[in-house]
Amino acid sequence: MIELTPVSPDFVAEVAGLDLNTPLTPDDARALRAAMDQYAVLVIPDQPLTEERQVAVAQLFGPLEISVGASVYNAHRPRRLNHAELSDISNLDESGGILDAGDIRRLINLSNQLWHTDSSFKRTPASISMLSAQEIPPVGGATEFADMRAAWDALDSAMQARLAPLVAIHDYFHSRGLTGFDTAGIPAAWREMQPPVPQVLVRTHAATGRRSLYLASHISAIRDMADDESRALVDQLMAFATQPRFVYRHRWRVNDLVLWDNRCTMHRGAGFDEKYRRSMRRATVQDAGPTVVA
Ligand code: OGA
Ligand code: MN
Repeated sequence: MIELTPVSPDFVAEVAGLDLNTPLTPDDARALRAAMDQYAVLVIPDQPLTEERQVAVAQLFGPLEISVGASVYNAHRPRRLNHAELSDISNLDESGGILDAGDIRRLINLSNQLWHTDSSFKRTPASISMLSAQEIPPVGGATEFADMRAAWDALDSAMQARLAPLVAIHDYFHSRGLTGFDTAGIPAAWREMQPPVPQVLVRTHAATGRRSLYLASHISAIRDMADDESRALVDQLMAFATQPRFVYRHRWRVNDLVLWDNRCTMHRGAGFDEKYRRSMRRATVQDAGPTVVA
């Protein structure tokens, strides 16, 4: 039986009583899914998982995405990880050495330090992400999570009514540009594989019915809104939604497994001194379908 220790009443819980290297009982699988729905972020310590096992556990939540690294920007070079379903969240190259400052894999991953939700730049975005920590720096390198349900609940009703019908444009390369990636030099083939996509700005959770803001640094514009107005609105919402009262900061321990629901949270890496190694891998579950039909 799993035991939950909530960090706050309905955001973030630590999970005990589970060994993910053995098959989950149907009861535990059900309890884990229910806990995800309630808390949106789960921390499961002491889970040393092989790549295969991580993939298998993540599949409890649905089919997995193929990582953008494996399918787009690093598709034709060796990868450190053996599964295309696993995103390489590390500062390491394919032989395990620390990446050079100018390495494209490092530059692409830098955008993880901006508030975002995973894969909102895909037409069918991500539901659950599952990040496993292999090596962590002695200082720094935390990950912060923000509760977009609480942020939505805290907006006044006039603002909620204004936001509810809006559609945002999410662009993978927009967030890369914000962290200094040379977006002018991006091959046309990459842009074609990862074109801008529309997403609703306000989501309703499939399991709980709770509404939440759906924000990310991937947002380049709001549909049918002037650029400056749209930028101002997104900046304002970002600042509002990431106030400390909505945020949990996770300090990693080796073999922590952290799961979050991308449909109703944002997260960002806090940065660290890159002379240290930091090695994580992420499995990402695909949501049921696009948030915008037309
Ligand atoms: C991710 C991510 C942030 C971090 O794995 O999706 O954004 O702290 N990670 O590495
Ligand atoms: Mn992420």
